Amino acid sequence: MGNLFIKKDIYLLTKEADENDIDDEKSLKRTLTAGNLIALGIGAIIGAGLFVRTAAAAANNAGPSVTIGFIIAAIGCALAGLCYAEFASMIPIAGSAYTYSYATMGEFMAWIIGWDLVLEYALGAATVGIAWSEYLNKLLEYVSMHIPYEWCHSPFETSTLGITGIMNIPALFIILLLSLLLIRGTKESAWVNGIIVITKVAIVILFIVFGWSFMNPINHANYIPEATVYVDSQGVDHNYGGIMGILGAAGVVFFAFIGFDAVSTAAQESKNPKRDMPIGILGSLAICTVLYILFAHVLTGVATIDDFRNQGKEASIAYAIKTYMTGYDWLAKLVTVAILAGFSSVILVMLMGQSRVFYSMSCDGLIPPVFSVLHKKFRTPYKSNLIFFVFVGSFAAFVPGDIVGDMTSIGTLFAFILVCAGVMILRKTNPEIHRNFKTPLVPLVPILGMIVCLAMIFGLGWPNWSRLLIWLAIGMIIYFGYSRNHSKLGNPKK
Ligand code: ALA
Repeated sequence: MGNLFIKKDIYLLTKEADENDIDDEKSLKRTLTAGNLIALGIGAIIGAGLFVRTAAAAANNAGPSVTIGFIIAAIGCALAGLCYAEFASMIPIAGSAYTYSYATMGEFMAWIIGWDLVLEYALGAATVGIAWSEYLNKLLEYVSMHIPYEWCHSPFETSTLGITGIMNIPALFIILLLSLLLIRGTKESAWVNGIIVITKVAIVILFIVFGWSFMNPINHANYIPEATVYVDSQGVDHNYGGIMGILGAAGVVFFAFIGFDAVSTAAQESKNPKRDMPIGILGSLAICTVLYILFAHVLTGVATIDDFRNQGKEASIAYAIKTYMTGYDWLAKLVTVAILAGFSSVILVMLMGQSRVFYSMSCDGLIPPVFSVLHKKFRTPYKSNLIFFVFVGSFAAFVPGDIVGDMTSIGTLFAFILVCAGVMILRKTNPEIHRNFKTPLVPLVPILGMIVCLAMIFGLGWPNWSRLLIWLAIGMIIYFGYSRNHSKLGNPKK
């Protein structure tokens, strides 16, 4: 029976990384500059959070003060990002919070983080898949076609005309397509990533610049609405307005920042990780924060909260342009096409992140070996990709975007809290390990990071807390029923 607190040897991990560095065959090439890292971050960050969840947060939680929600979410991310950067520079392995915590906080915590990351990556992919479906429908509208409501919504959604969804086929389709692409093996080239990043940033800037003069001051008159309860069309209660509304919005739009941790996984490929990792993580965050706040300000100025609750609930950006920005139909079309491409790349990164984490966990014996079986020809964990297609696809097809989006946010916030705690613990237990980058002002920064992330978890409300608790309880059952007995580290003779 394994020991709950057994740790991977941090020296062995760093030694392996160093040896790989010398051995050119095995190592990842150190080619990335600070600029590349920032582009990598932005590529993984801008997606459904901005183009779909912003309007939802304005409608359900905060009205125009969703911009303040963005500021809170950005502060939480920056504080947690500084902690991620220390981990990434200390254990410079192409890994994730799971690997870091196995070496620092022991097997049980590593399990919790790895299990929790499923919410970030798998459900994150499902959320963006559902958002993709909304914009596909918008695109079809331009050629006078449309998918019937029941075939592009979950059974838990009902339209204003009283039609209830059956399954979200386009969301399932895009998850299938990208899962197959992953099995085939795809390394998104820096070049393709560059084009997608430029396109995404360009449409955000175009919307801000052209939308600015279409803002109607009446829409911003009640910037922080008074606290009340808003019951949405599906009968769900939301704390709207006031502080709770802003915290709730922060938790929802936090989704828009997820992905900056992707920069920390590229530590081994960075030319000068000591200087460039923090620049990459904080630089991409800073650029996105400024763009997000301006974008949300313009969006809530152009269209009304009522629009985001009713006719413009889906594909809200295209709706706002088409309805209020006369003469900019071309922009609505451009935005729709660009968003579809941009979402695909985010889904790909998330599905890949998911299979990477489960690959490591499976190699460590914490989950069954099927998750680390590689395809003979493509050398990809194809069985894992197929299993996750079924898992992610089921959520994308049968659960509403609001629910999976908020579950992604709460799961990731929880992982960030553990990473902040990890940095503090490691300063005490292993002060001697060389850190290329040190989080400033420890313990202040990690403690503040934990407080801000907790506040956002608080704002997400009890339905989301209970979903997180249920997910963690399932994780415990699997850990004590399987992982503890199969852990390679904990059961060396097996
Ligand atoms: N930040 C990513 C998005 O908004 C996950 O789609």
